[in-house]
Amino acid sequence: MMVQSTGFFAFLRLGLAAFFAVAFPAAGQPQEEVEKRVNDLLRTMTLEEKIGQLNMVSNGALLRWDDISSGRVGALLNFNNAQDIARAQAAARQSRLKIPVLFGLDILHGFRTQFPIPLGEAAAFNPRLSRLASEWAAREASYIGVQWTFAPMADLSRDSRWGRIVEGFGEDPYLGSVLTAARVEGFSKGGLATATKHFAGYGAPQGGRDYDTTYIPPAEMYDTYLPPFRAAVEAGSVSFMAAFNALNGVPSTANAWLQTDVLRKRWGFDGFVTSDWAGINELIGHGIAEDGAEAARKAILAGVDMDMMGELYIRYLPEEVRSGRVPESVIDEAARRILRSKMRLGLFDRPDADPKHVDSIFPSAEARQAAREVAQETIVLLQNRNKVLPISGSVRSIAVVGPLADAPLDQFGPHGARGHAQDSVSILQGVRAKAEQSGIQIRHAIGCDLVCHSSDQLPAALEAVKSSDLTIAVFGEPADLSGEAASRAHLALNGKQEEILRALAAAGKPIALVIIGGRPLELGTLPDQIPSVLMAWYPGTEGGPALADILFGDVNPSGKLPLSWPRSVGQLPLYYNRLPTGRPTLENNRFTLKYVDEAITPLYPFGWGLSYTQFAYSRPEITKTHLKAGDILEVSVQVTNEGSQKGHEVVQLYTRDPVASRSRPLRELKAFEKIFLEPGQSKRVTFQILVNALGFHQDDGSYWLEKGAIQIFVGGNSLADLSGEIFLEETVTVPLGEQRAISSMKVYRNDL
Ligand code: GLC
Repeated sequence: MMVQSTGFFAFLRLGLAAFFAVAFPAAGQPQEEVEKRVNDLLRTMTLEEKIGQLNMVSNGALLRWDDISSGRVGALLNFNNAQDIARAQAAARQSRLKIPVLFGLDILHGFRTQFPIPLGEAAAFNPRLSRLASEWAAREASYIGVQWTFAPMADLSRDSRWGRIVEGFGEDPYLGSVLTAARVEGFSKGGLATATKHFAGYGAPQGGRDYDTTYIPPAEMYDTYLPPFRAAVEAGSVSFMAAFNALNGVPSTANAWLQTDVLRKRWGFDGFVTSDWAGINELIGHGIAEDGAEAARKAILAGVDMDMMGELYIRYLPEEVRSGRVPESVIDEAARRILRSKMRLGLFDRPDADPKHVDSIFPSAEARQAAREVAQETIVLLQNRNKVLPISGSVRSIAVVGPLADAPLDQFGPHGARGHAQDSVSILQGVRAKAEQSGIQIRHAIGCDLVCHSSDQLPAALEAVKSSDLTIAVFGEPADLSGEAASRAHLALNGKQEEILRALAAAGKPIALVIIGGRPLELGTLPDQIPSVLMAWYPGTEGGPALADILFGDVNPSGKLPLSWPRSVGQLPLYYNRLPTGRPTLENNRFTLKYVDEAITPLYPFGWGLSYTQFAYSRPEITKTHLKAGDILEVSVQVTNEGSQKGHEVVQLYTRDPVASRSRPLRELKAFEKIFLEPGQSKRVTFQILVNALGFHQDDGSYWLEKGAIQIFVGGNSLADLSGEIFLEETVTVPLGEQRAISSMKVYRNDL
């Protein structure tokens, strides 16, 4: 039943209009001027020249320079220095129309200065820091002439067997939306256009196997996997990258529902879509194209404008058009989107890269400070029994042990762009520098190498542990086990790491485990044997100093898990915002939701993270409990630092719709705010949430706000207690056609 609530639509249309006016500014040029210039240029182009704009080629042995100078290349990737970029752009200027090429590169978490990997950044729950990190990455890359990054990755994932979980923001659509928008804004502010990827559903491959197929019902796509991509559109992402995976049987690279219906017709995106690397060729492997010509045809007709490294568009589209199988208007529209983006970025007007610019001037002291600040807030204190941390003044000697203690490149994680080992300050170096300020002796032993197949280094490590007051054990996941094509069927620490850690813990001295890695790992009995455990992710260039700041208590840990941490790989996929079942877990009833050989709960839940201090929450107050569409839900809570150390806390608000026309998640994060409190200080946090954000989609794409109760939970993690409930007084359903008005940045950002 649809109730036309005029207030609802008026409010949303106004919001949207204001929104898109802000979200899509041309780079200093009025929109209509850009369109005129683009159309004037298009009218002068031959079919081959238009198709040339759709062709993206990588630096390397296969690159033919005369393709660039003859206008057969519209974009280049994997150029990472100003000299080569300037040379390639000069070649493009030799073409008949002198159309500049667009230079793209994978810059995910830094260019020369490496910031924490995105999954770690997500643990900071801090859009300001996400913008800062992205802006720094963009400043350094654009200085040497890169104009476009293949980031942010907006793929949510609930399965840490999937190696690329490291590149995303974890399991939650709201956190993912806020941070994806923040990264698009940060990259843009620093001078890089973005290719938000991988559109879409790539983070849910069966078995956690990268590139494998995905089955995600439409309602789940709308409510969970698509929102971060929509946030990217509203934040002004210049382009999107189609995903490798098939979605419900239709490969994303030939999926018109994704690339045209959702992205363009419903969200109003007017940039361009590129394939992923040879993703169009892979349509043959997916079994939906006989040959390259059919693959090219299906991709261009679905809405994929650019062919990355497939060379199928440049080879087959001229004939596909001349044969009438592809209308030339489709080519015109694809070329228009690419030229419009280049025009908006100023490529036709600004000078080309200065070949004298080199990235060896980075990292600057300012960039290092930014990288250290971001890394500090990503570190999650998972447990801290006996208050082993922060390191007390009585500690006079520390053993720093483990294969990742002095691993300057591994602490960058995958996609380290131009990160150099000599720039990186390792955990050992960071701890040693701070310890020496207090005359604390440091002993170092690796325990085993990164592969850790042998424990022959264990005796030396044990000697260091037994001779020291405290052990900092740095173990985890070497960088080459993380990232693309790094799916893992086993999540235990690789090699003999666990055996070595158990032996070190058995020495009976105080010990803290620091995990370096790109995903939650299976820890087995280690949390029982080791009192303090921190997750430091891949902390980047300043990972050592940042971790030392935390370990010595100069900075209070504030990271919160952006995904659920499994006890064992058998629990995956595992996520907090799961649906209820008809048989919720009952302790003494076998025939309810449970395993016979493992607990049903995560080891550490979404939103979890400890502090060296304690935060107390008052009973939250709900300003108005009876609300309708278009209203604002307002919830306030007083938070007090009851401990002796200043620190950040991430105050989180979750909702649940206990009875609806479809099963609704047990909890859904709808807002968070990161606050800083001195010892004894209190702060009143007030959340304002669009009631429109409390609805859900049906499989037909309609959006529903249903009459009835909505429960509210406020606290420091996803286990927060029930704080109260509101009542939606009317049911409003918004058919597919009017969906564009539903969202606004207010829904995605808590720092407006
Ligand atoms: C890769 C990745 C994609 C990356 C692209 C260019 O295969 O899937 O994320 O941006 O190729 O390197």
